[in-house]
Amino acid sequence: MKTLKTLFRDELADMYDAERRLVKALPKMAKAATCPDLRKAILSHLKETQGHVKKLEQVFQSFDEKVRGQTCEATVGLLEEADEIAADFKGSPAINAALISAAQKVEHYEIASYGCLHEWAGLLGNTRAAGLLQEILDEEKAANESLTELARASSNEDALGESDGMGSEKAAGNASGKLRRGVRPVVAGRNRAGFSSR
Ligand SMILES: [Fe+2]
Repeated sequence: MKTLKTLFRDELADMYDAERRLVKALPKMAKAATCPDLRKAILSHLKETQGHVKKLEQVFQSFDEKVRGQTCEATVGLLEEADEIAADFKGSPAINAALISAAQKVEHYEIASYGCLHEWAGLLGNTRAAGLLQEILDEEKAANESLTELARASSNEDALGESDGMGSEKAAGNASGKLRRGVRPVVAGRNRAGFSSR
C-alpha cells in the first residue's frame, strides 16, 4: 500500500535529483548573466544548493534510508527552458530579466516541494528531517525574494530596451519576436507602475 511514507520517499528522491542538476546548471546561468549582482546572487545560491544536496543526504539518513535520486522531470523541463531562454536572449537587454524568470520558476517549484516535504516529515514524526527541510525551504524563499529584488532594481527596466514599455515585441530589442511570457514589455511596465504607486 502506498502511504505518506512512500510519497515522502519519492518526493525526496526527486528533489535530490533536482538539486544535483541545479548544481550543474547554476554556473551556466551565472555565466549567461550580464548583471554583476545577478551573477553574484546565482553563484551564492549555488553554494546553498550544494548545501541542499548534503542536507537531503542527512534527511535520507535520518530515516535510515539509502540516499537515492530519481529523475525529476519537472526540473529537467525547467532547465531545458532556461537553456533555451538564455540562448534566445543572448546579447539582448532582456537577458537578465529572462534568466531571473527562468530561475524563479525553479525556485517556486522547489518552494512547493520543500513545503510539502517539511509538512510530511513532521507528520511522520521525524523532527530532525523536518528541521533540515525547513532550513532548505527558508533558503529557497530567500533566493526567490533576492531574484524579485534584482528584477525590480534594474533587470526589468533594462529589458525595456529603447522602448517605452508599451510597444511591440520589436521595441523590447528583440527583432525576431522571440519574447516569451514573463518578460514581455507590458509586464515590466506594470512592475514599474507598481513601484511608482508605492
Ligand atoms: Fe535548493
